[in-house]
Amino acid sequence: MPSSLKLAVLASGNGSNFQAILDAIATHRLQAQVRILIVNNPAARALDRAKQAGVSTVVINHREFPDREAFDKALGSWLDQAGVDLVVLAGFMRVLGSALINRYKNRIVNIHPSLLPAFPGLHAIEKAHAAQVTETGVTVHIVDTGVDTGPILAQQALAIVPGETLESLGARVHAVEHELYPKVLQWFAENRVKIDGGKVTVRP
Ligand code: GRF
Repeated sequence: MPSSLKLAVLASGNGSNFQAILDAIATHRLQAQVRILIVNNPAARALDRAKQAGVSTVVINHREFPDREAFDKALGSWLDQAGVDLVVLAGFMRVLGSALINRYKNRIVNIHPSLLPAFPGLHAIEKAHAAQVTETGVTVHIVDTGVDTGPILAQQALAIVPGETLESLGARVHAVEHELYPKVLQWFAENRVKIDGGKVTVRP
């Protein structure tokens, strides 16, 4: 992959991870450019962040499509048009179909707020907090056709302080996300990531 990695970021809500990526680019910690921000939710705060940063945006409202195939087709043509190296899911709350995932095989990444395979799916921070585990963390992984099952690129663990509130844990998990995601994306920019038969190797 080239040294200025071309990204599409897909988000549905707040977009704090998107913001962390923009900040890392602005401070030269990440050699990348966000070609497009795609949201499925017209009220996503991520849209304001993009406008602020001068990033092109598109809203593909899933409610306006008859089924997932039609939605994915629209999404795929925007991605093709943007000519991106990597598709970055940053709080994107739609499951992508296998046709799109296979077309962008090993080029879609996601961040998940737990140490996968623990607590996949929605509300991972709440689940870890309720389970009273002693540690949780953040995972960045390649997206495959399962839910939060793809090859793991990086994980960072975080000790849960006994008696810690959900709010405090959530804030600490998000802070880890904001460090880890740009760092992993920079590995792609430096062409250090190899994925072969579902096995990830990161060149030192
Ligand atoms: C993050 O916790 C991310 O791990 C998960 O969705 C959340 C998105 O938060 N996939 P934000 O929109 O980036 O603030």
